[in-house]
Amino acid sequence: MSDGSVDGEANAHKLWGGRFAGGPHPALDAVNRSIGVDFRLWPFDIRLSKAWAAALVKASVLTPDECRRIVTGLDAVANRISAGEKPIATDEDVHTMIDRLLHAESGDVASRLHTGRSRNDQVATATRLWTIDAIARIDGLVQTLQRAIITQAESIESVIMPAYTHLQRAQPVSGAHWMLSHFWPLERDRARFVAAGRAANVLPLGSGAIAGSAFAVDRSSIQAELGFAALSANSIDAVGDRDFVADTLFALTMLGAHLSRLAEDLILFGSSEFGFVRYGDAFSTGSSMMPQKRNPDALELARGSGARVLGDLVALLATIKGLPSGYNKDLQEDKRSLFDAVDAMVLLLPAVAGSLETLTFNATRMRHAVTSTMMATDLADYLVRKHVTFRDAHGAVGSLVRQAEEQGVELTGLPFSAFQQAHPQFERDVLEELSAEKSIAHREIAGGTGAHAVRAQLEAAKRTLSF
Ligand code: ARG
Repeated sequence: MSDGSVDGEANAHKLWGGRFAGGPHPALDAVNRSIGVDFRLWPFDIRLSKAWAAALVKASVLTPDECRRIVTGLDAVANRISAGEKPIATDEDVHTMIDRLLHAESGDVASRLHTGRSRNDQVATATRLWTIDAIARIDGLVQTLQRAIITQAESIESVIMPAYTHLQRAQPVSGAHWMLSHFWPLERDRARFVAAGRAANVLPLGSGAIAGSAFAVDRSSIQAELGFAALSANSIDAVGDRDFVADTLFALTMLGAHLSRLAEDLILFGSSEFGFVRYGDAFSTGSSMMPQKRNPDALELARGSGARVLGDLVALLATIKGLPSGYNKDLQEDKRSLFDAVDAMVLLLPAVAGSLETLTFNATRMRHAVTSTMMATDLADYLVRKHVTFRDAHGAVGSLVRQAEEQGVELTGLPFSAFQQAHPQFERDVLEELSAEKSIAHREIAGGTGAHAVRAQLEAAKRTLSF
């Protein structure tokens, strides 16, 4: 270790090193090595390498025969890795590993592939391809959760439950209305993923290390081959641009926040104090000490993962912020954050969808949590319909609520005379206003909780998913 070389690494396959007398110090080697993180880029690195080889033929760098041997070699490398070939200790990163294996498969011709390209434009391209693929996977998982939401919403469409503001009972709503309040945030997440995918859909390859490749590769044909929507316009920007990673991490963070809020509702509703929800056996965990426990671990982990993904976003933003232009090695850390956040959500989404699909609602408990005092606004609205100002109406109903509170009863527990005293415009039919069904029926406004409005909302939710 004193001379800085690593035992057994003297002959390590390297993409650089000619200019140095000795090998790198093990401590540098250890911190520099990214294969543990970036190995998963391999299918994309193979794809872009094939496209690069084809472009090198057009640029008269490779003969068609050399290109064929390289492409055959890359296919063989892909087969070896799919069959379980693992990185070896001296592989610095996935690009080095593929280069090593390509030499083993194709011999010296492999040395021609890295002409005119750098790992800077290579890793930017591979990460973009990986991100586009990951976004498609996440989108599918989000849709599965959205379907579970719609199915559960329909199961409680006619169930009346309290809606809460400040976590205090506020007004009665249809169960479906509450459930769908968790659908639309996910729909906005999907739009954010589409935008992040668009940001990723730009080809950096051909930018070289920083100034652009010195060989006349046809970047448009690489773009077409790899299916990118556009070419990067500036090679300096292209090798240092990780905005698409930030966009993806932000979309993941918002998704994490939405899953966390859904989870939080379900955790609260599953407590004995609420008793609205009973978790299915397949998504409940027990306690090592308390035999009675039925814990919603997956939902709690949804809250926990939301925090972790936010941390990934912050790490990436902080990494980008102080960088000089072009590629800097700090950017190697982008994948650690990106992969961690995607992994977290890929793990979480099926667990949240499963938790939701298998839980059952207790309609009786939900209905019983609705009290007549929650119709106080409807009482005020009743007076307003009789041309009382809302301020006066609010005051009159406020006095009724105070009396009820003092007597320890709900508004339905007060005698009609109390209503008359509170405001002369109260007539006998006011008692009907204390019904939750009536309160809901008043709200047939688009986006409201009236039965028809909720049905229309359900249909709209289904249409967005073609469900
Ligand atoms: N493993 C590196 C990364 O992920 C690849 C690019 C390395 N470029 C370089 N000039 N050392 O960023």
